[in-house]
Amino acid sequence: MAPSATNLIKPEPTERPVTDSQVVMNEMVLPNDANVLGNVLGGHVMHLMDMCAAMSAMRHCRKVVVTASVDHLSFVHPVKVGELMILKASVNYADHTSMEVGVRIEAEQPLTGEKRHTSSAYLTFVALDERGRPTPVPKVVPVTEDDKRRFEAARSRREDRLRRMKGEGNQPPGE
Ligand SMILES: CC(C)(COP(=O)(O)OP(=O)(O)OC[C@H]1O[C@@H](n2cnc3c(N)ncnc32)[C@H](O)[C@@H]1OP(=O)(O)O)[C@@H](O)C(=O)NCCC(=O)NCCS
Repeated sequence: MAPSATNLIKPEPTERPVTDSQVVMNEMVLPNDANVLGNVLGGHVMHLMDMCAAMSAMRHCRKVVVTASVDHLSFVHPVKVGELMILKASVNYADHTSMEVGVRIEAEQPLTGEKRHTSSAYLTFVALDERGRPTPVPKVVPVTEDDKRRFEAARSRREDRLRRMKGEGNQPPGE
């Protein structure tokens, strides 16, 4: 039997495993990305984090996403010009239209292969429909022990965020 047009439209998944949203990005630090000490600029790291996390969120929901907030951003160690930055991101938790993505960056010394953790952050993305309005996303299925630990931690951060947003009337700090 020939497939009809309706048969060809795949239903949107209602849930996805964490592996579907995993993203790994590698980047070498160049002089243009560094401060006078030869360390990568924080703003450059934040840009890369946002890109990596956005790709992860899009892989999870297969929709357009926008960054709604960034929290727990930490710079643990500097990264030097000539070193590699390895960014890893995946969706920890998804609510109705929002997703929390965790990003971890390690620096790698390319001549020795030595690696160290340099920064991490949690970014919340919201999926938008064709009219630019928040639209539902699939739930996250945590499979491994790490997935489950991150899922629970993300759910608790989400509750904190909602409490904060409610307390602040969803206004940015200072308003
Ligand atoms: C993010 C944005 C789409 C939310 O729109 P909104 O009209 O407030 O939508 P809603 O109140 O219906 O909230 C939609 C979801 O976003 C979440 N959300 C809204 N603001 C948030 C924030 N500051 N932090 C975390 N989540 C947030 C809500 O909790 C809700 O999640 P849920 O559906 O999973 O429960 C809107 O504020 C926006 O467009 N912001 C600008 C985004 C942007 O331009 N980013 C680029 C960097 S500046």
